[in-house]
This record gives sequence, C-alpha cells and structure tokens, in this order.
Amino acid sequence: MITNIPDYTDKIDWRTRVFDSLSYPTLILRPDRTIIAANLKFYERIGSPGERILGRTCKEIFFGGKCGNEIPCDGVKCTLDRCIREKNAQSVILTDVDQNGNKTWEERVFSPILGDEGEVSYVIESLRDITKVKTLEKQYSDVRQLIDKVVQSSVSAIMAADRKGEIILMNKAAEDLFDYSVQDANKINIEDFYPPGVAREIMGKLRDAGSGEVGKLPITKAKIVTRKGKEIPVEMTAAIIYEEGRETATAAIFNDLREKQAVQKKLEEAEMQLFQSEKLASLGRFAAGVAHEINNPLTSILLYGTLMQEKLGESHPLEENIKFILEDTERCRDIVKNLLAYSRQTRPTKEIFYLNDLVAEGLRLIRDKKLFMHVDVVKRLEEHEIAVNADKNQLCQVLINLITNSLDAMNAGGTLTLQTYRDTEKKKAFLEVSDTGNGIPKENLAKVFDPFFTTKELGKGTGLGLSMAYGILKENHGRISIKNTGSEGTTVLLELPEEDLSGKSHFVSIG
Ligand SMILES: Nc1ncnc2c1ncn2[C@@H]1O[C@H](COP(=O)(O)OP(=O)(O)OP(=O)(O)O)[C@@H](O)[C@H]1O
Ligand SMILES: [Mg+2]
Repeated sequence: MITNIPDYTDKIDWRTRVFDSLSYPTLILRPDRTIIAANLKFYERIGSPGERILGRTCKEIFFGGKCGNEIPCDGVKCTLDRCIREKNAQSVILTDVDQNGNKTWEERVFSPILGDEGEVSYVIESLRDITKVKTLEKQYSDVRQLIDKVVQSSVSAIMAADRKGEIILMNKAAEDLFDYSVQDANKINIEDFYPPGVAREIMGKLRDAGSGEVGKLPITKAKIVTRKGKEIPVEMTAAIIYEEGRETATAAIFNDLREKQAVQKKLEEAEMQLFQSEKLASLGRFAAGVAHEINNPLTSILLYGTLMQEKLGESHPLEENIKFILEDTERCRDIVKNLLAYSRQTRPTKEIFYLNDLVAEGLRLIRDKKLFMHVDVVKRLEEHEIAVNADKNQLCQVLINLITNSLDAMNAGGTLTLQTYRDTEKKKAFLEVSDTGNGIPKENLAKVFDPFFTTKELGKGTGLGLSMAYGILKENHGRISIKNTGSEGTTVLLELPEEDLSGKSHFVSIG
C-alpha cells in the first residue's frame, strides 16, 4: 500500500473546477438523457443562470420536450443514443437562426464515460459554436464559386498545371482552343500543348530574373499545339504559383491570335491594294497621255513607210531597211495599244462565254510551241461550265501574257497548271495560272503591275503584260492578284463575276 504520497490536491474540488473551466458549454447526462451536471459555460450559453437544468432531459432543455420525428431526437438518429450504442464519441451539427435572423451553426460532441463493466454510465455533451468557421467556410466557398464562374466564362483560355506538369485546371475556352476535354486532362502533360522544347523555354523564362519579375511571364507571342497537332499562334502570359515560398503550380492565360492576324493581313492587303491602285491610276493617266501623243506620229510613219516600200519595190537595196523600220514601228504601235488598254482608254466589248473555252483558246493562240517543249501542261477545269460576261479578246490577251510569263519563269522546264473553279455563293468565277518556276522576289512583288516593270532582257519583255492585265480586269469588274509566289513557283489568280445563265439561251462559245 502506498502511504507517503504527498497531498497535491490543496483541498480543492478539482473535478468541479475543471468542469467549470472548460471553454465549451458542457453537460453530463445519464443514458436516459437526464442531465446530472452542467458547467458555467452552459448556463451562460442558455442565458438563464437560475434555470433548473439538473434532473431535466436534454429534450426538454433544447427542444421544449418536443422530440417528435425531428432530427436528432427520433431515437434512431439521436446522436446521444448512437454514442451509447457504439460506445465512442459522436457528433452532430445543428443549425438555427439567432435573434437577428442570422444563421448559426453548433456542433454537439457526445463522449461516453464507461463504467467498470465497459457499459456507458454517463455521456458528456459539449456544445461548440462553429458559426464563425461555417460563415468563413461559406464565404470562402462563395468566393471560390465566383472565381470558378469568372474563370469558366472567360473568353481567354486559362490553364493551370502542378509541379509535374499535370493539368489541374482548364476552362471552357482552353478546351475549345486546345481541342481537349477537361475529362482528358489527367492524361495530358503541359508539354503536350506546345511545340517540342517550348514548355521548358517558358518555365526557364518564368524562373529567370533577367526576363522580368521572377515567377511572371509578360505578354508573349507563342505557338500552342492542339490535340490534332495543329499549331496555333497565341498571345500568352503565365505565372508560377508559390505556397510558403515553394513552387506549387503554374497558370497561364492564352488568347488566340488567328482572327487578329487575319484581320491585320486583310488590312495590310487592303492598304497595299489602295496604294497599288492609286499608283496605277496616276501611271495610267501618264501612259494614256504618252500613248495618245505617239499614236498619231506612228500612224504617219506606218503610212508613209508603207507607201515608200511600195514605191521602192522588192528588189531595191533599201527595201530591207524599210522593212525593219516598219516592223519596229508596228512593235511600237502594239506597245501603244497595250498602254491604252492598261489606262482603260479602250472600251471592252462584252459577251458571254465559258471560262474553260477561254483556257483552250489561250493555249491555242500561243504561237511559239517550242516554249512548251520542257513543260507539262495540266488542266484542272471545273466540270460545270462557268459562264462570264466580259471582253473575251482582252481576257485572252491577259491569259496569253500569264502563260508566257509562266513559261519564261520555267525555262528549265516544269509544270504549268490552269485551273478554273467557282464560288456559287459569292457568284464568282476563278481562273488560276500556276507554274513551278523561280517565283517573284519579295522586293519585286509591289512592282510587277507597274507599266514597264520587267526583269527580262532587252527586247524580250516590255513590262506591260501584267499592268495591262490589271487594267483589263478592272474594266471587266474583276481582279487580278499574285496568289502565291516563292521558290516553288507562282500562282496568279483572276476573279470575275460569274454570269447567271438561268433564263438566258444565247451566248457565244469560243474555241
Ligand atoms: N509567273 C511568273 N514567275 C516569275 N516572275 C514573273 C511571273 N510573272 C511575272 N513575273 C515578273 O513580273 C515582271 C512583269 O511581268 P509583265 O508580264 O508585266 O512583263 P514582262 O513579262 O516582263 O513583259 P511583257 O509581258 O510586256 O512581255 C516580269 O518581268 C517578271 O519579272
Ligand atoms: Mg509578260
């Protein structure tokens, strides 16, 4: 028997003091729900210190005796009963409304006190006001829901990945841009969204103090890769997300640049077109003036030269000189004719004809067949005939020039492709002349439609072919443009309004 243990109790009833010092309102109940003890905090909690608590049941105290079927007092769901049955701590969260009408939350924790036989002799019930925690939780979840809505409704693609690069967030715009569904997210790594090496490069920039603020990537142009492997230009920003100084994730925002770039390109093209047509208009006026002035003297030279040739007769020693003079004068007259066509001084004579017939006619009229010696001619003609209403002679001239240009560009051989097609919606007819020649250098592109611009040797080209074609197409309500050019060849595109033949029975077929 232990005899000499000092008395540390200081003659105080510790059990009562400990019970009253608990920071939560607490009751001790018998298994039949009779309250046998309540601490000070409990009296504070119910707000009436004088009220008789002991000897009454929890039902009476909390529910005014109404137990009914209301949770938690229906016997099955009663947490106290469960605590007794299972002989371990149980808890329940109850909600209420305070006198100001605000919702309150209280957690009730039931802990069993076991007797010598292991049976539940008493139950300690402590009441914890968790309104603050619940309110914060609710506010947090409201904010989270709001952020979620903002992220999901953003037109920018937003994505986040963890440290291993696995996707942890993807909004609707990102699903659309990358062509992935959020369900696939766990199968994808952030590296799959960029061309090889780009994801690492971006991470390098994010961590590099030299590229701006560490952990932040300023607006940067980049390319992303979709599920089907298509590369899309984007403008993006990214940030590393830190928790207690450690990198935990990265987030990025992407904006598709395709539409913006297409608009930019269209704008540049329109500006170029305007510049080109203004330049050509002033050159046209100048050319028309010169052509008019030269036309009359040329007619006289031809007239008097021909008279002189007749007078001298074929055997005269100067006959050959006169022949050369007349030949070169005729060449000058052709140039003047072309200049007048370019400056739209000649009115087009319109008629309806098929575009495919124009192709056949253009090819037939190229007299110098040796030009085709090393060239394969491919015709890709629209099955359904496309009718146009235009000056067929002028358009034939245009086509002959385009074919000649292509043949000149392929003097070492190649393929000449003539293609016709239509856009029924826009009611447009198209004719493309493509070659596999050496292409037009970038610095010449803006000049090829200028009169007298040629890269051909003296006497081979006057540089009037394309400028004339420009004038003719404009006069016939069409358009000529260089669709593509580069080391793989050139494609020139002619556009004309398509003629609607329904209801018309007569038109001219050429070829
Ligand atoms: N298919 C083409 N491939 C490469 N260059 C071309 C092509 N078509 C035109 N060019 C370039 O554009 C220039 C102008 O062409 P354009 O038809 O107006 O004149 P040209 O062919 O030189 O002379 P002309 O047509 O009066 O005989 C050419 O000299 C050539 O440099
Ligand atoms: Mg030419």
